[in-house]
Amino acid sequence: MPAIVIIGSQWGDEGKGRITDLLSSQVDMVVRFQGGDNAGHTVVSNGKEFKLHLIPSGILYPDVTCIIGNGVVINPEVLIGELDDLEKKGVDTSNLQISCNAHLVMPYHIVLDKAGEHRLGKSKIGTTHKGIGPVYEDKASRSGIRVQDLLDFKIFRIKLEESLKFKNAIVEKVYNMKPLDLEEIFTRYRTYAGRIGKYISDTSFLINKALDENKKVLFEGAQGTLLDIDHGTYPFVTSSSTIAGGVCIGAGIGPGRIDEVIGITKAYITRVGSGPFPTEETGNIGDYLREKGIEYGTTTGRPRRCGWMDIVVLKYSVMINSIDSIAITKLDVLSGLNKIKICTGYKYQGKIYNSLPPHQTIMHKCEPVCEEFKGWNEDISEVSSFGDLPENAQYYIEKIEEMIKVPVSLISVGAERSHIIVRDESLRQRLFGQNRRSTLIV
Ligand code: GDP
Ligand code: IMO
Ligand code: MG
Repeated sequence: MPAIVIIGSQWGDEGKGRITDLLSSQVDMVVRFQGGDNAGHTVVSNGKEFKLHLIPSGILYPDVTCIIGNGVVINPEVLIGELDDLEKKGVDTSNLQISCNAHLVMPYHIVLDKAGEHRLGKSKIGTTHKGIGPVYEDKASRSGIRVQDLLDFKIFRIKLEESLKFKNAIVEKVYNMKPLDLEEIFTRYRTYAGRIGKYISDTSFLINKALDENKKVLFEGAQGTLLDIDHGTYPFVTSSSTIAGGVCIGAGIGPGRIDEVIGITKAYITRVGSGPFPTEETGNIGDYLREKGIEYGTTTGRPRRCGWMDIVVLKYSVMINSIDSIAITKLDVLSGLNKIKICTGYKYQGKIYNSLPPHQTIMHKCEPVCEEFKGWNEDISEVSSFGDLPENAQYYIEKIEEMIKVPVSLISVGAERSHIIVRDESLRQRLFGQNRRSTLIV
C-alpha cells in the first residue's frame, strides 16, 4: 500500500483521525493536503486523548514523517500551540515538515470570517470562525501570504501592507469595526517565523521521493465529501477540495500515484453548521446519538446535528472519490437502539431520487425513504472479529455493503486504537502482518 488516501465520506467528523492513527503504525509518512484548523481530529492512545487540528494524526509515531502540504492553510499561532501541547505530552515533533507553498491564515481572515457570518444572519454557513473561507479567497485572488514569505520579511511586509490596506477598508467601511494594526501583526508573525522556520521545505519533493522509494504514504483528508467546495452541498461547505482528487493538488503528486482510497463513514451521520441534512433526527433519536456518541465539535464544541445513515450520500461519495473500501466507525454507538434506519432515497413531489438530486432544494425539502432494521443491545466495544458481532449488527454492515457495492474493510467499535475489527484479510496482512514497523511512544 504505497499511497493510501483517507477521506471523509459524509459531512466530516467521521473518525478520520482515529483511522489515520491506526494505519500510521504501518506507514512511513502521513500528509495533510487541505483544510486548516477548522479540522479537529481526535486520537485516543492508551487512554490519552489528542485533539489535532493542523498536525497530521501520524505524529504519535516517532518514525513517521508528518507533512502539512501546500493545500493546507496554516494559522501559525494554532500550529505553535499544537506543537507545544504535543511536546508537553512527550511527543517528538521533529519529523514534521511544512510546505513553503501553504497559505497563512492572517488575523484579518478570522475577523472577516466572523463578520461575514454575522452579516448573513439566519442564512449563515455556520463556519468554524477560523478564517478558512477568507484565506482561500485570497489564495484564489492571488493576494495571499504564503509560509515561504516568513523566510523573507522584506517581502512579507510588502505583502502585508498591500493586503491590510484593502482588508482594513472593508473592516472599517463595511463592518464599522476597528482596523487591524500592521506593526502588531508584523511583530507577531516574525516571532512565529522563529519558531516554525526549521520545519519549512518544499514538501512535494519529499512526498514524491518517498513514493519513488516505495515507502508507504498515507494522505489524511479533513472535513468530508459533502463539505467539498465543488461537490458538496454548496454554499454550506468549506472552501477546499476535500475529496480524493484534492490530494494531487494539495500534496503535489500525480493522480496515477494513488493506490487506494478508504472512505471513512460513521455508522450514522453528523453535521455541524447549516445546510441540508435529509436524515437528520431532531428528537429523541438525535439526542441519543449525540449523547452516546459524544457528538460535540472537536474544534468549536458545538453540538453536532445527528441522523441516520444516508446511502444516497454514501453512494455519491464512493463515486466522487473512487472509494475502494469503507471504514465504518462508531458502530458501538448504535448498540441499545431497538430500530435502526438506513435512508435509500429522497421523496420529493411524488418522485423518489436514489442518487443525489440535481437541485439542492430537493435535499432541503425531501422526505427520506428509509429501510428499517432490528437493533442490538450488546456492548460491542471489545469485539474484535466480524463473526462475534451480534447478528443484527452483521446484517446492518452487510446491507450497507450490498447497497453501495463496496466492501467494508474496517469496523471501529470504540475510540481506542484496539477497538477495531479488520474485516478485509488482505488489508489485515498489509497492515498488521509481519514487520509491524512503527513503535509508539505515547
Ligand atoms: P474526524 O474529524 O473525522 O477525525 O473525527 P472527530 O475526531 O472530529 O470525531 C470522531 C469522534 O469519535 C472522536 O471523539 C473519536 O475519538 C471518536 N471515535 C472514533 N471512532 C470511534 C468509535 O468507533 N466509537 C466511539 N464510541 N468513538 C469513536
Ligand atoms: P473535520 O476534519 C465537520 C464545517 C463547518 C461549516 C462548514 C464551513 O474535523 O471532519 P469553515 O470553517 O470550514 O469555513 O466552515 O464546514 N466544517 C466541519 N464540519 N468537521 C470538520 O472537520 C469541519 N470543518 C469545517 O461546521 O458547516
Ligand atoms: Mg473532526
